[in-house]
Amino acid sequence: MEMMKGMKRTALCTDITEEMIGQSVTVMGWASKVRDIGQLVFLDVRDRSGLLQVVVEQSDEALLKKAKGVHIEYVVAVTGKVRARGEGGVNTAMKTGTIEVVAEELRILNASKALPLQLDGNAGDEIRLKYRYLDLRRKELQHNLIVRHQLTKLARDYYDENGFLEIETPMLTKSTPEGARDYLVPSRVHSGAFYALPQSPQQYKQLLMLAGFDKYFQIVRCFRDEDLRAERQPEFTQIDLEMSFVDIDDVISVNERFLQKMFGEMLGIELTLPLPRMCYKEAMERFGSDKPDTRFGLELQDITECVKNSSFKVFADNIAAGGSVRAINGKGLADKLSRKEIDALGEVVKLFKAKGLAWITVKEDGVKSPIAKFLTEEEMQAIFDTLQVETGDAVFIVSDKDEVVFDALGNLRLELAKKFDLIDKNRYDLLWVTEFPLLEYSEEEQRYVAKHHPFTSPMDEDLELLDSAPWKVRAKAYDIVINGMEAGGGSIRIYNSELQEKMFRVLGFTKESAWERFGYLMEAFQYGTPPHGGMAYGLDRLVMILTGCDSIRDVIAFPKVQNASELMTNAPSMVDETQLQELHIKLREEE
Ligand code: AMO
Ligand code: AMP
Repeated sequence: MEMMKGMKRTALCTDITEEMIGQSVTVMGWASKVRDIGQLVFLDVRDRSGLLQVVVEQSDEALLKKAKGVHIEYVVAVTGKVRARGEGGVNTAMKTGTIEVVAEELRILNASKALPLQLDGNAGDEIRLKYRYLDLRRKELQHNLIVRHQLTKLARDYYDENGFLEIETPMLTKSTPEGARDYLVPSRVHSGAFYALPQSPQQYKQLLMLAGFDKYFQIVRCFRDEDLRAERQPEFTQIDLEMSFVDIDDVISVNERFLQKMFGEMLGIELTLPLPRMCYKEAMERFGSDKPDTRFGLELQDITECVKNSSFKVFADNIAAGGSVRAINGKGLADKLSRKEIDALGEVVKLFKAKGLAWITVKEDGVKSPIAKFLTEEEMQAIFDTLQVETGDAVFIVSDKDEVVFDALGNLRLELAKKFDLIDKNRYDLLWVTEFPLLEYSEEEQRYVAKHHPFTSPMDEDLELLDSAPWKVRAKAYDIVINGMEAGGGSIRIYNSELQEKMFRVLGFTKESAWERFGYLMEAFQYGTPPHGGMAYGLDRLVMILTGCDSIRDVIAFPKVQNASELMTNAPSMVDETQLQELHIKLREEE
């Protein structure tokens, strides 16, 4: 191996252009491809900017010999003259495809073992994550992390320009009520006590408002022990912000201008402001989701009225119990779905707790449906009229309590869009979902829990319902939804201690238990809290949108897998007995 000494890099590979023909340059990087054709060796040198072709010619015999010793992923330094590639040598797929560098000096700075995975092939996920540092040499992943860097910088600049201060908050904190399980950190000094890693800086940022900082933001890591999905990681990053003396429109306005800047500068897409807003109720009724993907139709429709007197027990019993019957008209899908495929869709809705999927197909040769025998002609006609059914359509119906109907049909809608490729990938639909319910009933805990968090303010119009019909109360909460993904969310907070105490009461806390859990906050709120509110974006999710990635792993340098482990370092792992003793922890015998 040779030293770098005396050689200095003058450019990144793709900084070299036709204008530099005749000039001498020095590049350093990895040998991405080596082609030895006897009297010539071609090396594709790769650095983070891309590829550059280097030619080693036979005029320098020693150099040619050395070049023949270069293998894939060896680290090399090359000095040479830029020249135009000969006829037939031009590669239009490469940014530097019209030029090459003729080597005058070549040093092998380091060798590499044969890689356990091919960088341009289709290695399995497991091997890619085990050797993540090699996987990260891929162009796509480097691109994603560069976009991530650009977005982080854009966010910092934007919020700074708009008067926000970046202030750090602790990582070793007290448990916060964001709704997921905490990651706990045992204390050595305080036997039996634990810190929690923050699920978000929610309470700290509210206290910063109380302290008078007025506008805060932070690009901050958050930790949540929850089931992982394509857009969820146990540790993820938020662009988190909070503002004083504001109401909903102020928070939305400064943030949609951020999104406008982000889409404009990073994708060249001009967003028209204000962005559309849709209340939660409408989102659920039309799309079966509080994060509606509005890039395609297949909207839900309520057909409860059409079948409310039906003799079909499934419908009748459900409606009598307060449930609804809703449907999607799959326009023109009747001939595109086999019986087997319809049955498979039935399995999809069952994943979302529906008991069944009723369907009706209308083809040239007639109407087919497993529920036709239970419905009168009038009922069938009423369904057709409501859904504007025409020949060729396939109707899908779910009957259950609203919650289940929305979830089942909302997900069926997404499944149909995927199956029939109904989504225009070049389209970006952004909207704010507003007027969320303040509370939701937890069957598990047999009490109301805050849908967002317990500091979310009720809507002024609904305040008086807090005692009489708390389930009807809407919150000053808003989510930003981009292409059917919750990209961010926030709320206006309760700043009045009386209302906060009432809220805790509705949530089933006694005064004592609320003080025990949130005492420092309730105490603080008595010392002149300004009206305030804010929100947080999932930074990782914004990067997914900007890069078009389907998996959050592809936008994080060192992500975790489904079971929350990291395959490269094998975290989490066992620790020494002495470490456990210091932390006053004794492991239970495996059962
Ligand atoms: P919320 O819990 O809605 O609000 O989180 C805000 C945003 O963070 C992203 N996000 C995640 N991204 C990746 N993996 C996860 N596990 C994950 N969980 C959440 C989402 C989400 O919209 N403190 C409040 C904000 C506020 O009220 O100001 C909060 O954390 O994009
Ligand atoms: P059954 O008489 O139970 O065979 O049901 C007749 C049809 O009704 C079948 O196609 C079922 O999938 C469908 N079905 C059953 N329960 C429901 C439900 N809750 N909502 C919609 N369709 C249902």
